[in-house]
Amino acid sequence: MKDVIVLAIETSCDETSVAIIKNGKEVLANIVSSQIDIHKKFGGVVPEVASRHHVENITVVLDEALKTAQITLDDIDCIAVTQGPGLIGSLLVGINAAKAFSYALKKPLIGVHHIAGHIYANHLVSDMKFPLMALVVSGGHTELVYMKDHYDFEIIGSTRDDAVGEAYDKVARVIGLPYPGGPQIDKLAQIGEDTYHLPRVMLEQDNFDFSFSGLKTYVINLVHNAEQRNETINKENLAKSFQEAVIDILVGKTFKAIEQYPVKQLLVAGGVAANSGLRKRLNEVIQKYPDIELVIPPLKFCTDNAAMIGVAGYFSYLKGVSDDLSLNGSASLDLK
Ligand code: KG4
Ligand code: ZN
Repeated sequence: MKDVIVLAIETSCDETSVAIIKNGKEVLANIVSSQIDIHKKFGGVVPEVASRHHVENITVVLDEALKTAQITLDDIDCIAVTQGPGLIGSLLVGINAAKAFSYALKKPLIGVHHIAGHIYANHLVSDMKFPLMALVVSGGHTELVYMKDHYDFEIIGSTRDDAVGEAYDKVARVIGLPYPGGPQIDKLAQIGEDTYHLPRVMLEQDNFDFSFSGLKTYVINLVHNAEQRNETINKENLAKSFQEAVIDILVGKTFKAIEQYPVKQLLVAGGVAANSGLRKRLNEVIQKYPDIELVIPPLKFCTDNAAMIGVAGYFSYLKGVSDDLSLNGSASLDLK
């Protein structure tokens, strides 16, 4: 079979990324230009600022990806781009660049769901084998997704309020850590003790849904009460206590789901999949399930990147699914 080369673009939040993927598996280039240092000053992503920087970065990143991959434009078979969900102004920068390429090269344009991308990042590590369960943990999503085949997404559980990454970022902010807080809490947790015994919200309930808003508020109140009493908070211990509560909830629910939905693989997807404590615990618990393969992408494919969009786009291309030039960005797009 002829090689399939996908040019992929991801601009849904604060990373401008372009990748070139061969046959859904080989990463010929994956350039990620992060705006973290810019948004750090504001304590979070400022949408308007993000869009402007995507506009400045996109052609530079595109150029660099093509140079790194050492391909010519003629080699490209299709253009995949994140359609949503995400910040609408940011998404549109990537979508317009993708449309321009699709029109000029006369090659199909494929809109990709950002979370499908996170899930498909796992295919770069190990071929996806169905049925599978994906634990999706990002800044905007916390979901358990059951898949019987490619592009067959059944969301069996999701967060009722905050996403887990969002809770990480807010808790980090309240204890004075810079944006994005997830990696910072992860680092502190490695030297702390679980002394605060935070609630394991919804863990005992008989469903696969999550809730992180209560846990976040519990931590915020704890910090504010301590401030009022002039007591000092042990940040390392609070970070460890928060992380342990989060991991107990995520891992508890995931394996509960696996008991009910037998699967060949457990995939982990999204920025929080980079968390060292979560990775460690999943690796321990999976030992009790010798027939299930645990797949967790390397860190660079956990946080936002275009390589994952290229892999997801490749499987759409194989199905013959594509979009026309009326493709529009969508801040809230359903996974399907
Ligand atoms: O998937 P992602 O890069 O962007 C979205 O699609 O949202 O996820 C970003 C989230 C942020 O909330 C960030 O704090 C969190 O992932 N994150 C982590 C770690 N690395 C990134 N959370 C916990 N531990 C980490 N090591
Ligand atoms: Zn993401």
